[in-house]
Amino acid sequence: MANDGVDMGRRRFLTATTAVVGGAGIAMAAIPFIKSWQPSARAKTAGAPVEADISKLELGQMVMFEWRGQPIWIIRRTQAQLDVLSSLDPQLKDPKSEVTEQQPAFAKNEYRSEKPELFVVVGICTHLGCAPKLHAELKPEPFDPDWKGGFFCPCHKSRFDMAGRVYDGVPAPTNLVVPPYYFIDDNHIMIGEMKGAA
Ligand code: FES
Repeated sequence: MANDGVDMGRRRFLTATTAVVGGAGIAMAAIPFIKSWQPSARAKTAGAPVEADISKLELGQMVMFEWRGQPIWIIRRTQAQLDVLSSLDPQLKDPKSEVTEQQPAFAKNEYRSEKPELFVVVGICTHLGCAPKLHAELKPEPFDPDWKGGFFCPCHKSRFDMAGRVYDGVPAPTNLVVPPYYFIDDNHIMIGEMKGAA
């Protein structure tokens, strides 16, 4: 976010619409219900919280919403993706989420989320604002032969794990930002607001 001008084109693309992406072969399956996830007119007004319906979000999938002009990603993480997180701590800059600005207090935990399986994060690289890409599978990648799933920023090769925690030795200085949110119920998340703040 240090230079908002660096990647506005990419960001506009990302925030243009609500979209579903994810691991290999699932994006097409998700297309039929994209429309129902368009943010409401009210939600698009500056600063308004956005209600996210995640009832159709399947294991391993990611869905994107827009809040305050930022892409908000919600990912339903698999058990394998969760199980590997603690083993990555020695390779990370801030494994315990000590930089308090990067997440609400409720997300200062191993998974950086209220519910372990559901990860809510701002999809903007903390280096210069590019859009990291989700590489969710635990398999060798060209940028890391020992990859355990996470996000890779193609602009300057920053890497983040499946909790948005930044690896050591990359240009991004901090973990990805977790926005304020709360669960309305099992299938609906209010993004941009903490419980009781309404
Ligand atoms: S913007 Fe530089 S690594 Fe992401």
